[in-house]
Amino acid sequence: MGNVNHKKNGECENCPNRAATAERAIENPGRRRFLNYLLGTSFGATLVAIFYPIIRFITPPEVIEAAQNSVVAGKVSELAANSGKIFKFGNKPGLILRTSSGEVKAFSAVCTHLDCIVQYQPESKQIWCACHNGQYNLNGQNIGGPPPRPLEEYIVNTRGDEIIVSKG
Ligand code: FES
Repeated sequence: MGNVNHKKNGECENCPNRAATAERAIENPGRRRFLNYLLGTSFGATLVAIFYPIIRFITPPEVIEAAQNSVVAGKVSELAANSGKIFKFGNKPGLILRTSSGEVKAFSAVCTHLDCIVQYQPESKQIWCACHNGQYNLNGQNIGGPPPRPLEEYIVNTRGDEIIVSKG
């Protein structure tokens, strides 16, 4: 024990076991490789656990476009003159309206300005977008406010009491 110089961290310069320990480490590279593998995979798993939810949150889900070309939008008997109603056309809203003279019309209810949902306004007899006071006439033409284009108009047919709306 006389000449052995032990340091605080456990290493010793003159320790008789020092060479043996180093030899064991060299002789057992598999253990070192296994530890490196464990550390590497846990680091990778941590990265995946952090970034996977973030990436899933950022990328929007795929929306399957409705292949629907026609839909029953409502019943004639339930749509009073000078009124309108929102219906679902695939995954988009549509607007059916009945004019004061009894004609039934259908449009996309998505405003051409910034995609708000439009509605029929019986007082003004117009289609109106509440978001920025966009106005369309009963032919879907943009006549006031910021909307840059007319509303998409749909074809309307009736089958008995049902209102069938289809894309042109
Ligand atoms: S979104 Fe309709 S007027 Fe702006």
